[in-house]
Amino acid sequence: MMERVETGRPGKKDRAELEAFFRTTITDTFRRNGIQDPSGIEDEVEHQMETFDSGEEMIIARIDGRIVGTIACGRQNRSVRDNISGELKGLPEVKGVYVHPDYQSRGIGSHLWKTMISELHERGIARACLDSGYRLSQQYWTGKIGEPDVVMKDYWGKGEDQMIWFFPIEDLYTGLHG
Ligand SMILES: CC(C)(COP(=O)(O)OP(=O)(O)OC[C@H]1O[C@@H](n2cnc3c(N)ncnc32)[C@H](O)[C@@H]1OP(=O)(O)O)[C@@H](O)C(=O)NCCC(=O)NCCS
Repeated sequence: MMERVETGRPGKKDRAELEAFFRTTITDTFRRNGIQDPSGIEDEVEHQMETFDSGEEMIIARIDGRIVGTIACGRQNRSVRDNISGELKGLPEVKGVYVHPDYQSRGIGSHLWKTMISELHERGIARACLDSGYRLSQQYWTGKIGEPDVVMKDYWGKGEDQMIWFFPIEDLYTGLHG
């Protein structure tokens, strides 16, 4: 499976496909996480497209030419920025990690994560952050990064926490590359 994955930067011509990818994947993510908020889906699609339109760093994964995954890095979202202080506010945020539902659990998310960590390492970025409000992905990030640094209990409603991780790029890079 993994040998057929190609990573690269999205261009202007990819915009419509990317938006359709986000709508499919985010709709499925909300459903699987039990989030009942139809307008929230469109808000999140719009949010991801803002990242694309503003030219922030984004990597896409393709299989047979089709977009199957994304990861981005750029300015902090409000849910992070408003809940931290000091120098942490300036850290870049890894965000927009989405793998198409038909292609999940095949290593694509891990591949995108590793690619982004390598890029940040090459650019000499010392630390970054990541946040997650999806219950199902919080274990995934705990597995990759460790315990979250900030847990905002019931941030999105009863039993729906928001979590933030801060991490040194060098350590993760070394861990991923041996
Ligand atoms: C979370 C997500 C990005 C992971 O990408 P993926 O390609 O499905 O995951 P991978 O195949 O790279 O998973 C690697 C490992 O994590 C595990 N894993 C996958 N999904 C998991 C989950 N939801 N919870 C816990 N572990 C998970 C796999 O078992 C695998 O373990 P292994 O390497 O020890 O075998 C993807 O499932 C996704 O897009 N989910 C919906 C959107 C989302 O929640 N995005 C994150 C936003 S913060």
